[in-house]
Amino acid sequence: MTTFETNGAFADNYKFLIGSILPRPIAVVSTINLDGTNNVAPFSFFTAVSAQPMIVAFCPMIRSSTGAQKDTPLNILREKEFVINFVHEELAQKINLTSTELPYGEDEFKFSGLTPIDSEKIKARRIKESLIHFECIFRDRLNYGDHPGAGQIITGEVVKIHVADQILENGKIVTSKYNPVGRGAGNDWIRCDSTFVLERLMTSQIQK
Ligand SMILES: Cc1cc2nc3c(=O)[nH]c(=O)nc-3n(C[C@H](O)[C@H](O)[C@H](O)COP(=O)(O)O)c2cc1C
Repeated sequence: MTTFETNGAFADNYKFLIGSILPRPIAVVSTINLDGTNNVAPFSFFTAVSAQPMIVAFCPMIRSSTGAQKDTPLNILREKEFVINFVHEELAQKINLTSTELPYGEDEFKFSGLTPIDSEKIKARRIKESLIHFECIFRDRLNYGDHPGAGQIITGEVVKIHVADQILENGKIVTSKYNPVGRGAGNDWIRCDSTFVLERLMTSQIQK
């Protein structure tokens, strides 16, 4: 085994994070800009935290290129709400475009050809082409610094879930119908079209 210290440059640590923690699910976070226009960006440092209350977390880092806070956390800290839109393979190209570093206030819906639709409980809009949307109210922020590459955890409580009927069976989401993609190392994306089942030694299973 080769060993590495973690006190060097951002990029040195980052390559081990993205090369080790994968496949990563992708939260495509839509928020409202100061002037009421839309902002969208993907985040693969993303996970579920709690089922009841229903809490999710994602981690926008300080831009390594400029040292600036990204537009998504700026909007969330001001508006206290956001939508998490999910990515299936068909949408991947357009979602990748939403990661382009546009000047603040420029609408990534327009830039990437995605369609904004109103949410039910919050002002931030949803991506019509996504098969799943979580409407979220901001809950907590844990900050790890204000220098380039520093991360933060933003959590949100999901207050409304939208799921396309075409991926539902008996009220559950079917992976093969959903066809999600995840993020790998570098610019890799990962398909989820091959799954296998392992039974657990439990008396009851909620997922059955
Ligand atoms: C698939 C994918 C996943 C990404 N995940 C993250 C992430 O977890 N954290 C992060 O800070 N940036 C991530 N990025 C980069 C941001 O999307 C990018 O910096 C974007 O411009 C931020 O937009 P904003 O300024 O509108 O918030 C990711 C990019 C892609 C394409």
